[in-house]
Amino acid sequence: MSKNHQKVVLVGDGAVGSSYAFAMAQQGIAEEFAIVDIIKDRTKGDALDLEDATPFTAPKIFYSADYDTCKDADLVVITAGAPQKPGETRLQLVDKNLKIIKSVVEPIVKSGFDGIFLVAANPVDVLTYAVQKLSGFPRNKVVGSGTSLDSARLRVALGKLFDVSPVDVQANMMAEHGDSEFAAYSSANIGGVPVLELAKEKGISMDELLKIEDDVRKKAYQIIDLKGATFYGVATALTRISRAILHDENAVLPIGAPLNGEYGLKDIYIGTPAVVNANGVAQVLEVPLDEREEKAMTDSAKTLEEVAKNGMA
Ligand code: LAC
Repeated sequence: MSKNHQKVVLVGDGAVGSSYAFAMAQQGIAEEFAIVDIIKDRTKGDALDLEDATPFTAPKIFYSADYDTCKDADLVVITAGAPQKPGETRLQLVDKNLKIIKSVVEPIVKSGFDGIFLVAANPVDVLTYAVQKLSGFPRNKVVGSGTSLDSARLRVALGKLFDVSPVDVQANMMAEHGDSEFAAYSSANIGGVPVLELAKEKGISMDELLKIEDDVRKKAYQIIDLKGATFYGVATALTRISRAILHDENAVLPIGAPLNGEYGLKDIYIGTPAVVNANGVAQVLEVPLDEREEKAMTDSAKTLEEVAKNGMA
């Protein structure tokens, strides 16, 4: 059960981290929010700026801190890491960002932290796996943002295609948060009506649906080409996952979850719907996949396993 006063520590106060802090301020989820980054003027400035938002939203304490603040935190959110440059894949960030992850996980664990880790730095599936290994935390207590953002992107695209609110589209992007992900169309539905049936009724071909899947896969590149980085989407996805954890919601969300035999996979973090509550990943939901999707899942897992193996060797 959640206690009354909850504390979140953000590690990494870049564009994603500060947008997340702002979204958390707007939604009034936790009472205490500490910001850790090597650039101290930035965390101090952000804390002062964010506290000015609280009279309009909900009481919350924002402050700049060091790693030892993690000791009594309920949730530590890691966004620290180099972002993608235009044209760069998420997987190409692995060496740089694994080093950064190692340097942040160690002092967090040393602080005595015993809450939930939420990891968003890229390549997120590999780094979430690394955080679990490096921290030695139980697997359920380490959560990745996984395909939460990608699934939102798919829901936006299908909402536009079928003229319905994206809120009411049930659809998941699955596997890697990156180039090998896929749309789980065979289980996607709107109001219980399968998306594949709705498409047929409207004369929308599978090729058109696959084009949408590809657009979703490339949406981050599109945004990075236009404005240099993506942050509002991922920040809001992180806020949604944080709420599920801090409010002990048992919410079903697409996240980066640790698999233990689901989809025939083990010892990996990958994008799938899961039940999220105060214990982190309470349950992985194994979505029935058709042949195309099953192959995409297996191929994506292979890619991630290779990158993890080489990166962590
Ligand atoms: C994106 C980055 C966060 O997909 O990976 O926008």
